[in-house]
Amino acid sequence: MKRRDFLSLLFGVFSATAVGSLAYPLIRYLAPPEEEAGIKTVTIDKRSILTGKAKEVVLGTTPVIIIDRPGKGYIALSRVCTHLGCLVNYDEEEKRLVCPCHAGIYDLEGRVLSGPPPRPLQQFPLRVEGNKIIVG
Ligand code: FES
Repeated sequence: MKRRDFLSLLFGVFSATAVGSLAYPLIRYLAPPEEEAGIKTVTIDKRSILTGKAKEVVLGTTPVIIIDRPGKGYIALSRVCTHLGCLVNYDEEEKRLVCPCHAGIYDLEGRVLSGPPPRPLQQFPLRVEGNKIIVG
């Protein structure tokens, strides 16, 4: 490769890098991520959750679990444990949420039953419209 060709190639690479670093913030500004755009709801089909079962969704950047509690209806709770942030899992048989990291246990209202979590799980507003469940 001749020196002139090498310098042309090098200039092309630097130019592409410069354009990319200018374009990325512009694209982020024009098409912001979902959370920054103010979209803070998730809609699911009600029929996708059977009584006593749960469904995991993501609301913005927060993992959320929607549970159809027998006799009490739906509830949407953050899956982020209030102790150190691990993701809780739904224990369908025991009807509770269990944190796998330090054995924190929550009831289906999100209240702490045992373990180190200092606060209840965050609850999100939820409404049912026809066959839709809208969280957020
Ligand atoms: S992170 Fe959940 S109990 Fe510690």
